[in-house]
Amino acid sequence: MAQFDKKIQKIGVYTSGGDAPGMNAAIRAVVRVGISQKLEVYGIHNGYVGMIENKIEPLQLRDMANIIQRGGTILKTGRSTEFMRPEGRARAAQNIKNLGLDALVCIGGDGSFRGAHALWEEHQIPVVGVPGTIDNDIFGSDKTIGFDTAVNTALEAIDRIRDTAASHDRLFIVEVMGRNSGFIASHVGLAGGAEEIFTPDANTTVEKAIDRINEAKSRGKTSSIIITAEGQKPGRAYDLADAIRKKSGMDAKVCILGHQQRGGSPTAADRILASRMGAAAVDALFKGYCDVMIGTEGERLIQVPLDLVYKNEKKNQLDLISLASVLAT
Ligand code: F6P
Repeated sequence: MAQFDKKIQKIGVYTSGGDAPGMNAAIRAVVRVGISQKLEVYGIHNGYVGMIENKIEPLQLRDMANIIQRGGTILKTGRSTEFMRPEGRARAAQNIKNLGLDALVCIGGDGSFRGAHALWEEHQIPVVGVPGTIDNDIFGSDKTIGFDTAVNTALEAIDRIRDTAASHDRLFIVEVMGRNSGFIASHVGLAGGAEEIFTPDANTTVEKAIDRINEAKSRGKTSSIIITAEGQKPGRAYDLADAIRKKSGMDAKVCILGHQQRGGSPTAADRILASRMGAAAVDALFKGYCDVMIGTEGERLIQVPLDLVYKNEKKNQLDLISLASVLAT
């Protein structure tokens, strides 16, 4: 675990990658814990884009008023291609040094942590990461900020879809987000009583799904819901519907939940997680730790080296899918 021995006085905080509900609660915790410890705290706008363009401003206690319940990120976010090049990172690092910022807190996903690790390695800027993504696909942390809210948002939509599916005796395919991971799909599938769940883990096939739906029909079930992760193979929800139609003649309605899963007021669980992680990030910097991410192991907060985080893949909980399959009979 990397350490630095400078006493910190000024820190910066930024959100990067896809926004996630609870990011504001994390920013609030960083700013308020920082200021309570006599630090000056600066907000970097639009993630690495703003770091390169020097969009950095001081934040005060009152700037944090009324944001704990708001989705999105008041600092805005971004995905910067320029920061992927050494010259881009050098410009960003120079801006941080010109302002006299001693350390940074990065709230984002694994791409953001790759950048944070480079800032430490190439420019000796200490950074602590806080995992903020609805996908929950971050190695080293059981939970990420925004995941619980996204799962609940998707679930609310699925409960509604079930009403209409049941009324018309229909099969629905509901696509959820998650990029290349299936965490949202497996959780939503279990909690929503899905008949079949497709994730990028190649856990099922079109043939198996058709068999299960036919079996369910023979037991008297008249409507079904398939949950599919956007990153699953053989393809997105419409491709899956086509494949099912071609192989079985069954018609399926498709519903892609999309970006609504990223918005909305964070759940209590996400606000609490974000507040704890934001506070722990500042605490870690005070103790001289850097190049680490604050993660969770059960209820406990832990520190995980950033390079371990982005070099490793977090495995989906396939036992949830097996359980969903037993329960949806
Ligand atoms: O990482 C969060 C996420 O919402 C993924 O689930 C999704 O694949 C991606 O971001 C979409 O990104 P964008 O909003 O840039 O299209």
